[in-house]
Amino acid sequence: MKLLVTGGAGYVGSVVASQLVAVDHETVVLDDLSKGHAGAVPPGARLVRGNLLDDEFLRGVLGEGFDGVLHFAALSLVGESVEEPGRYYRNNVCGTLGLLEAMRGAGVPRLVFSSTAAVYGEPRNVPITEDEPAAPTNPYGATKLAVDRMISAYATAHGLAATSLRYFNVAGASGTLGEAHEPETHLIPLVLTAAAKETPVRIFGADYPTRDGTAIRDYIHVEDLGRAHLLALEAARPGMHDIYNLGNGAGFSVRDVVEAARRVTGRNIEAIEAPRRAGDPPELVASSAKARAELGWKPEKPALEDMISDAWTWMMSHPNGYE
Ligand code: UFG
Repeated sequence: MKLLVTGGAGYVGSVVASQLVAVDHETVVLDDLSKGHAGAVPPGARLVRGNLLDDEFLRGVLGEGFDGVLHFAALSLVGESVEEPGRYYRNNVCGTLGLLEAMRGAGVPRLVFSSTAAVYGEPRNVPITEDEPAAPTNPYGATKLAVDRMISAYATAHGLAATSLRYFNVAGASGTLGEAHEPETHLIPLVLTAAAKETPVRIFGADYPTRDGTAIRDYIHVEDLGRAHLLALEAARPGMHDIYNLGNGAGFSVRDVVEAARRVTGRNIEAIEAPRRAGDPPELVASSAKARAELGWKPEKPALEDMISDAWTWMMSHPNGYE
């Protein structure tokens, strides 16, 4: 297939673009490089630089003709979304509306969208199934939910074959591709930076109602997550919008992550207890039963230590990220 990957110079998008190239899909990456890195665009994929808010540019790109779009481009920091909701709504919602319109105009039949566990807010039931009511607690999650609903409407009205994948906590690296956010707010890269630089890492909240008092998350290897996109692309049906949670179904606390990182790196990582971070739910663990049953997806690297080990290897070989 000929596929457009928006945000394909970012962490998850670049890994998926490389997986698409590996199975001989003609892959075009659309990225404005505001967060992504030109060096993360895999060899074999073509980079088109531009922004989703530019309708004329989008019409031109989509007008080339594509069999599908994988849409990763978005702002994705919870804290920042609380401070600057307008930026999040404009980028994530208006940007996707422009993309959907350009796809419709050009007759592009398939879409796979990066949604998030953040749409569930503070879930009533864990592990979280797709039936859990969506009730985001921050603008980031709200923008992703708005897009999920927009996609459902486009599928019904215009016959789009669409899938939303709701990611839990993505981790690890894939060969030359790894996680390099600026600023970095994610736990695993920060713990590994602490290991590399012999600086302390902060534990945001030690008073949660969890087994060791720290927040619990479901970590999924970026390669496993990536493979789900290829399966979703194959399974998508015209006029249908399917939604799948993607995680391992196992919860690890912040302290578990620090302990695992100590084992992987062999370094003594100092961890300092700090106040809770605003907007963080105590526990987010996925039920991926639906993805397993309907997409035939199964994680191949479910062990937390493997994810941390791959992230560590990447960090050691890319001490300055993609610079
Ligand atoms: N944490 C620390 N110290 C740090 C960084 C993080 O204790 O230095 C904690 C957080 O408070 C949280 C856990 O580690 O409890 C995981 O934090 P991350 O920032 O790595 O990930 P989040 O769970 O906050 O966010 C991820 C994605 C979001 C998505 C969310 C879904 O990055 O895009 O999952 O809930 F919205």
